[in-house]
Amino acid sequence: MATLIDGKKISNDIEMELAEEVRELVSRGLRPPHLAAVLVGDDGPSRTYVRNKIRACETVGYKSSLIKFAADVTEARLVEEIERLNKDDEIDGYIVQLPLPEHISVERITDHINHRKDVDGFTPTNFGKIDQEHHSHLPATPMGVMELLKRYAIQTKGKHCVVVGKSHIVGMPMGILLAGPGDATVTICHIFTQELARYTRMADILVVAVGKPNLITADMVKEGVVVIDVGINRVPDDTKKSGYALRGDVDFEAIEPKASFITPVPGGVGPMTIASLIMNTMAAYKARQGLAESLTE
Ligand code: GUN
Repeated sequence: MATLIDGKKISNDIEMELAEEVRELVSRGLRPPHLAAVLVGDDGPSRTYVRNKIRACETVGYKSSLIKFAADVTEARLVEEIERLNKDDEIDGYIVQLPLPEHISVERITDHINHRKDVDGFTPTNFGKIDQEHHSHLPATPMGVMELLKRYAIQTKGKHCVVVGKSHIVGMPMGILLAGPGDATVTICHIFTQELARYTRMADILVVAVGKPNLITADMVKEGVVVIDVGINRVPDDTKKSGYALRGDVDFEAIEPKASFITPVPGGVGPMTIASLIMNTMAAYKARQGLAESLTE
């Protein structure tokens, strides 16, 4: 029987800690932190994620702004909005929810985001500083995973961590964080990896971020493995009002008896991305207010 890694509870704890901090700041006459979210188009999961991010701001007492664009917005118009957000003194941090429509280059958009306001940790400056001590903001999801490992006292030093997925927002930064500050030996696998099971079976800690339900089956892991499932997949389910259920990338029911620790989906990594986002927003706010060491140039 594995210990369930309860991301929902940890993120609630973090939110309560931040809410207390906001109350204290406001009682001193300061304004609360302010996070903006840019949402382009009508993607269902993106709308849900952004709604949850705005809700988290309300819970902790931050101000939030939702800036919506139609799917056919031009890249130039989006860049203009980003430049406006960079200059807006009332905004401490902002995110541009991904994915973006195909006619817009994520790379070009990310290049315009001021790294001090980049609370998602996606900009080249923040990505380049992942393994450095004085970074501005760490990428939100990998940061959330590291926080879960820390709060469950799961050591990474000297362990073999296998990351499945090499996305810019999860797999790649996850590998750097585990090998750098985490002092782990890291293998990054992906869609072109031959004999995936050969690597996943060697994992002391397995992080899966692919977006494919049941990609990892029980025969692909060793006894005692720590499983971090980053996948959030909508699978058809007639018993649900929404018509779908959320599943991760691992076969939870079959793997759970073999694992020492495992994250559920939902309620594992997902809430931690949001917790990281609001932690990064607090750091950006404090730097802007001169309440903490300023963020890196
Ligand atoms: N799309 C999926 N995950 C994320 C995330 O963490 N941040 C943003 N901005 N978009 C996403």
